[in-house]
Amino acid sequence: MNDLEKYFRENKDRLIYKWNHYFDVYDRHFSAYRGKEITVVEIGVFQGGSLQMWKKYFGPKAKIYGIDINPACKDLEEENIKIFIGSQSDREFLREVKKQIPKIDILIDDGGHTMKQQIVSFEELFDHVKEDGVYLCEDLHTSYWLGYGGGHKRRRTFIEYSKDFVDDINAWHSEQSSLKVNEITKSVRSVHYYTSVVVMEKGRMEKPVESATGKQSYESTPVKQAALRRFLAWSNRQLNKTLRFFRLPESIAK
Ligand SMILES: C[S@@+](CC[C@H](N)C(=O)[O-])C[C@H]1O[C@@H](n2cnc3c(N)ncnc32)[C@H](O)[C@@H]1O
Repeated sequence: MNDLEKYFRENKDRLIYKWNHYFDVYDRHFSAYRGKEITVVEIGVFQGGSLQMWKKYFGPKAKIYGIDINPACKDLEEENIKIFIGSQSDREFLREVKKQIPKIDILIDDGGHTMKQQIVSFEELFDHVKEDGVYLCEDLHTSYWLGYGGGHKRRRTFIEYSKDFVDDINAWHSEQSSLKVNEITKSVRSVHYYTSVVVMEKGRMEKPVESATGKQSYESTPVKQAALRRFLAWSNRQLNKTLRFFRLPESIAK
């Protein structure tokens, strides 16, 4: 059991409300930040217990900020814990919060969990997360719950929205104008999916380059065949363009 889960299990302080399997996910992505001078933001304060948990886990140099729509949460402020009252789907409010806090190392969205709330918060706050920071959105099971605006493959659920990130981080290799290098391509190192959780680790990315080292084990790509290989690749591309138009998989061409 990691320190975070231990704290949770032994907690006698303010109430914390978390799914059991989140502690491994948190520790995996957050442990490198412990003891450092960092800024942590959690959307969704509830009874204030998780903010206290972050304070303990990250240590005395961490500044913890909470965001909640419930004005009662303001009373839960304490040393190194500051709370902003407003809605995570209110862009103006979030822009105001950004002016009042440093760039964020870790952002956890555990707020109202509707699609609009999660998407607006991401759109407004992602650029305020540091170049090497982490953005974590949890309770994504609501992307499958009709009452929250979810539904399997329904447009604009947070899960569907986040699937674009998978394309975005691969956009360097796109041969189609529908997928271009964008800010996510250049600023996200990895996207991690867990049950109910998506984690994005930021990091400045350059166009990937490939290299080869070591000795050749057998004759594989004779230079004289290069022109033929280029022709085959070109004809394959043309065939795949047609197959792609009909949304047919590549395997049909074999
Ligand atoms: C699941 S609870 C947070 C639990 C807390 N992080 C914990 O681990 O104990 C969700 C919180 O989100 C807040 N909330 C709901 N809608 C919101 C909104 N539109 N903007 C900000 N907070 C919201 C609720 O008031 C509630 O306190």
